[in-house]
Amino acid sequence: MSILVVGGTGTLGRQIVKQALDKGYKVKCLVRDFRRSAFLKDWGAELVYGDLSIPSTLPLALKGINIVIDSSTIRSTSTYTSEIIDWRSKLALLEAAKLVGIKKIIYFSVLNAGKDPSVSLLDLKFRMEKEVENSGLNYTVFQCSGFFQGLISQYALPILENQTIWLPGNSAPVAYLDTQDAAKIVVQTLNSPECQNKKVSLIGEKFWTSKEIIQICERLSGKTAKISYIPTIAFGLLRRFFRLFEFTWNIADRLQFGEISNNSSSAVKPSNEISWSINRLSLESYLQEYFGKILKKLRETNYQQSQKSDEISFL
Ligand SMILES: NC(=O)c1ccc[n+]([C@@H]2O[C@H](COP(=O)([O-])OP(=O)(O)OC[C@H]3O[C@@H](n4cnc5c(N)ncnc54)[C@H](OP(=O)(O)O)[C@@H]3O)[C@@H](O)[C@H]2O)c1
Repeated sequence: MSILVVGGTGTLGRQIVKQALDKGYKVKCLVRDFRRSAFLKDWGAELVYGDLSIPSTLPLALKGINIVIDSSTIRSTSTYTSEIIDWRSKLALLEAAKLVGIKKIIYFSVLNAGKDPSVSLLDLKFRMEKEVENSGLNYTVFQCSGFFQGLISQYALPILENQTIWLPGNSAPVAYLDTQDAAKIVVQTLNSPECQNKKVSLIGEKFWTSKEIIQICERLSGKTAKISYIPTIAFGLLRRFFRLFEFTWNIADRLQFGEISNNSSSAVKPSNEISWSINRLSLESYLQEYFGKILKKLRETNYQQSQKSDEISFL
């Protein structure tokens, strides 16, 4: 069974590649940059050049493939818009998959993406869910909660770097999920009839508020977070500002995404008949592992720097 992973360099995609290789699948990854994706080749995956926004690069990547796992999405640093990556390019991928006779497609959406069509990124995700459902291909749509890995840039790094964390006045608790767990389920269920042609929710076991996560980061780092609360209305104003310039549209989309999670004060719960909620690793253990490694590195760097300055003063 041969798999094409689109988005293999991403947070979730790389874990899927690893799990699939471990389970003996033949894995091909569609990548934009061979240098940045060399680690996937080292793990045993085959690399093929492709860019979702250039449909002519897709058919070659799909050659000899049985299952497409599409874990790609717009990068916050991308020069494209989410309309291009999360809608038009994905339609092109779906069309190409149908043309070459792919057996199954796996798509990732956001938990309850259909809840608020005014948020364009969520609306695109929801509309794409429907396209996948009606494609005639076998499919599984995984609707995911937020990933643990995103919490590092959101909370851990700003605390370590004494940067301000901007928090909405009112935010819903989220059942964060580790991408390793998500990847395990995705690969385990590739051939499971239970998940065939179904939407499947993937969430963590416990719902966390921003304040609870910050408290853990403070305890583990020994630092106090600088927190500023932004009224929900400010998210809307910022988003409208970024909408003025085409090159910042994807920032605007991300802010809009923030707006909806901030608007609801109750936790978003899965609505599907199949819902997986596992955490191999608790959020505390994940953050403990992260802070343990980073603080050890910082201590080593400080030690090396103090040794160097001792040598200089001795000279
Ligand atoms: N992050 C979350 O908390 C979260 C929550 C719910 C659902 N999801 C969904 O889960 C999936 C995986 O998310 P993630 O956070 O792992 O994504 P990510 O880390 O941001 O990775 C995005 C991937 O998409 C690829 N990509 C972007 N533009 C491309 C293009 N034009 N052509 C080819 N590849 C392109 C990137 O490749 P490059 O390395 O070349 O940029 C990268 O591999 C997405 O569908 C996302 O919407 C994520």
